[in-house]
Amino acid sequence: MLDPLFRQALQEALGRYPTPFYAYDWGRVAAQVARLREAFPFARLFYALKANPRLGLLRRLRALGLGAEAVSVGEVLRAYWAGFPPEGVVWNGPVKTEEALAAVRERSPVVVLDSEGDLKRVARHLPGARVLLRVNPDLPVRTHGHLATGRGESQFGVLPEAVPRLVRLAQEKGLHFLGLHLHLGSALEEAGDFLQGYRVLEALYPQVGPVAVLDLGGGFGLRLDLKALAGPLEALARLYGAEVWLEPGRYLVAEAGILVVRVVGVKATRRRYLLLDGGMTSLLRPALYGARHPVLPLYPREGREAGVFDLAGPACEAGDVLARDVPLPVPEEGEALAFLEAGAYGASMALTYLDTPRPLELLWTGEGWEVLREREPLEGLWEGE
Ligand code: LLP
Repeated sequence: MLDPLFRQALQEALGRYPTPFYAYDWGRVAAQVARLREAFPFARLFYALKANPRLGLLRRLRALGLGAEAVSVGEVLRAYWAGFPPEGVVWNGPVKTEEALAAVRERSPVVVLDSEGDLKRVARHLPGARVLLRVNPDLPVRTHGHLATGRGESQFGVLPEAVPRLVRLAQEKGLHFLGLHLHLGSALEEAGDFLQGYRVLEALYPQVGPVAVLDLGGGFGLRLDLKALAGPLEALARLYGAEVWLEPGRYLVAEAGILVVRVVGVKATRRRYLLLDGGMTSLLRPALYGARHPVLPLYPREGREAGVFDLAGPACEAGDVLARDVPLPVPEEGEALAFLEAGAYGASMALTYLDTPRPLELLWTGEGWEVLREREPLEGLWEGE
């Protein structure tokens, strides 16, 4: 649910800014940071900036003492631009091209090695770099298949049996080996999946020995029971004599953000639609993962007839439906509604498909609205052509 002050401030934003727009509640982000710190007081947090990379957000998270997790050279440089120091940035990903490696040569982040080839390339281009080795735990993690990076068939990390040899190889190549990395997947709701992952690392200890760092990735679903993880995580860290790093994205920002759209009209074919001024190009998750985002009407409900609607965007695709079978008081043209839990992987995945500008992004600081990013200008869409 939204904070009442934020909810009130939205009415003001609707009077001032063009829809569709993303709105984030900073207080909610800060509260999630506090919750994670309370659950894992022994861990260092590296915010996965793919969830929402706006600089205004990154600077605030850095001020709270977080590091950053990046997955492309663009994200690494963005993190530096936001003021994170090189030792506060972890760089993940199966593909790090020579061009990308050269771009961070002067100030190397902590690099997560994802394969033997990656290890060799990193050793060649970033001699002496601080590195982690990503373990693919080969587990049947429960989440949408696109998000299950810890399954053995995924392209990420190295299988447990290859870990001891590659740890030695990293050391022989002169890399500064910090420890192991594990990221099971995203939107994981079952504590048992994490515990299984920790057991894979536990089993590797006799062959790997003590390390400085265990980076256990992100993936914390919004309804995950964090308490069930703390004890086992701490025990694993004690076994290795390691510091724990975590890379939360969604957990910190998803519930703090909403996508606000206006109703352009009501229409019936064989189904009943509300037509919206924003759709899949603004919020891709329903089309890509079948994700469900709760819908909140931002207009008066009293005295309205009730209806059940599919909520369709402007694109020329039958898949541009952000939610189906939503019971709502019948809105009037121009009234607004919000898609909730859209603060993570909403704006960051927005597309310019169909020459649609990516939406404006606003941050409610508790005192006022701050523009995190202007709506993309239309002329920007054909720049460089
Ligand atoms: N660390 C690594 C190595 C990752 O690959 C990811 C996410 C994270 C941390 C952060 O995961 P989180 O805590 O946010 O679950 N676009 C998808 C999510 C893709 C996540 C990819 N990697 C979505 O909209 O649900």
